[in-house]
Amino acid sequence: MIELIKKLPKAELHLHIEGSLEPELMFRLAQKNDIQIPYKDIDDVRRAYNFTNLQTFLDIYYAGANVLITQQDFYDLTWAYILKCVEDNVIHTEIFFDPQTHTERGVEFATVINGIKSALADAKAEYGISSCIIMCFLRHLSQDAAFETLEAAMAFKDDIVGVGLDSSELGNPPSKFTEVFRQAKDAGFKVVAHAGEEADFSYIYEALDVLRSDRIDHGVQAIHSEALMQRLKEEQMPLTVCPNSNIELKVFESYQNHNIKTLLDYGLNVSVNSDDPAYFKGYINQNFINLVENLPLTEDDIVTLVKNSFRASFIDDDLKQAYL
Ligand code: ADE
Ligand code: ZN
Repeated sequence: MIELIKKLPKAELHLHIEGSLEPELMFRLAQKNDIQIPYKDIDDVRRAYNFTNLQTFLDIYYAGANVLITQQDFYDLTWAYILKCVEDNVIHTEIFFDPQTHTERGVEFATVINGIKSALADAKAEYGISSCIIMCFLRHLSQDAAFETLEAAMAFKDDIVGVGLDSSELGNPPSKFTEVFRQAKDAGFKVVAHAGEEADFSYIYEALDVLRSDRIDHGVQAIHSEALMQRLKEEQMPLTVCPNSNIELKVFESYQNHNIKTLLDYGLNVSVNSDDPAYFKGYINQNFINLVENLPLTEDDIVTLVKNSFRASFIDDDLKQAYL
C-alpha cells in the first residue's frame, strides 16, 4: 500500500505556501533579514508546534511568515516545496498564498507573487511539474481589506487562477465576504473557500450558495447534515481534505476517528492534501500513509482519492482527461 502511495503521480489542491516554511529555512531567513523569532533552536520550534485548535496554529504560522521579506525569500520557500513535490511524486499543485500576511508588513504584492511565480516556472522547466496560484483573503480581516487585495491582484490577473478564503473560521462566516467574492467571480477568478473545518456545516452552505464556491477546502463537518451530504454527492462538489492538519488542530481526536473513509464511501469527491506540511508533520505521502495505517482504506480507495484530486483540479478539461 505504501509503495502504491509513493508510486502514484498525484495532484495537490490545498497547500498554503507559507505553511511549507520549514524551521531550517525560517532560521536562515530570520538571520539574513535580521528578524526576531521566538525560538532559540530547531528543537524549540518543534516543541512550540503543539496546537489545541486552528487559532493556536495561526498565531504561530503568522509569526513564522514574518521572516519572508524579499522576492528571493519567496522563491526559496516555493522551491523548497517543489523539491518535496518531486520526492512525493506530486506532478500538479495548486498553491495558496496569503498576500495580506505580507502586504500588512510592508512587503509588496509584486514581491510575493513574482517570487512564487518564478519558482513555479522553474519547477515546470526542471521537473515538468504543472501548477497554478490561488490567492486567499484572510477572513479575520474586513471585506474592505479583501477588496484592496483584489484590486492589487488585478495587475497579476493572468498569474492567479482563483481566490480563496482562509484564517480564523469561527465567527468569520463566508457571508462576511459576499460582495468581494461576487466581484472576483465576475472578473473570471475560480472560487474556493475553507468551510466546515472547525465551524459547523452552515458555513459550507454559505460557501456554496453565497460565494458560489467551485471547491470546499476541508468541509469535513458536512457529515453532520444528511441533506448537505446528498447535495455534495449529487454535485460532485470537491472537498480538499487535510488529514494531518485535522489531527494536529484537534478537529478529530485521532486518525481512527477521521471521517474521510466515510465521506469517500458515501460517494463524495474527496482528495488528500497537506495544508501546512511544515507545521503538521509531513507532506502529502505522509498524509496518505497516516490514513492507511489507521483506517480500512483499500488500494482502490487510494486510487480514487488520487483521481479525485485531478478531477477537482483547475487543469484545463482537455488536458485533465490524460490523468483520469
Ligand atoms: N491558513 C493556513 N492553514 C489554514 C487552515 N488549515 N485553516 C484556515 N486557515 C489557514
Ligand atoms: Zn488550509
